[in-house]
Amino acid sequence: MDSFEWNKVFMGGLASALLVMMIMWGTEELFHVEMAEAVAYPIEVPEAASASTQDVVEQGPSLAELLADATVEKGQRLFKKCSQCHSIEEGGANGTGPNLWNTVGEDVADNAAFPYSSVMAGLEGNWTFEQLDAFLTKPTSWLRGTKMSFAGLKKPADRAAIIKYLWVNGDQSDSLPQPPQTVAGLEAE
Ligand code: HEC
Repeated sequence: MDSFEWNKVFMGGLASALLVMMIMWGTEELFHVEMAEAVAYPIEVPEAASASTQDVVEQGPSLAELLADATVEKGQRLFKKCSQCHSIEEGGANGTGPNLWNTVGEDVADNAAFPYSSVMAGLEGNWTFEQLDAFLTKPTSWLRGTKMSFAGLKKPADRAAIIKYLWVNGDQSDSLPQPPQTVAGLEAE
């Protein structure tokens, strides 16, 4: 082979190497585009999903609104779930649980004749509407170690009805929270 033919071989080799490189580069470009789309998509989806879940949560009525809408009759009906352990009338006997006359707004665990668990006896503060709502959602999670073995009330409207029933069975020293009030206003109380 003379140098001219070597040249042809060399150039041919170079050309095919270039071609291969261009193809690879092209594929890479395609691949990048696909990757970019693949990455962008799953990020956008959970964002959109969480935004809408948040909206649903935020759009749910507040405790104040639920309390305003709740009827005492519904609360009384639902209290059957509690009455196996609790009496509610003034001066009523303690059972498995303490008598619940005048609970809303009063000190937690203030029934001197009832043997509370150490965790409940150790709780500071009053039973506010919000605290009762949190406690009754799932007592054993809200207060680990409580003796109140009750699964809880999942529906916010059911809890509001029972809390309203507890409230009318007491001296009502705390007034019902008013729906137009802001959450910040309630916490400041
Ligand atoms: C299986 C029995 C049982 C049932 C059912 C039950 N409770 Fe209780 N409850 C208890 C016991 C026991 C305690 C005391 C908990 C402790 O000392 O840890 C208690 C404590 C409480 C307290 C705190 C009282 C205080 O003096 O601070 C409230 C409020 C309360 N229960 C409300 C309810 C409501 C409302 C229901 C129904 C939705 C209910 N309970 C259902 C057994 C029960």
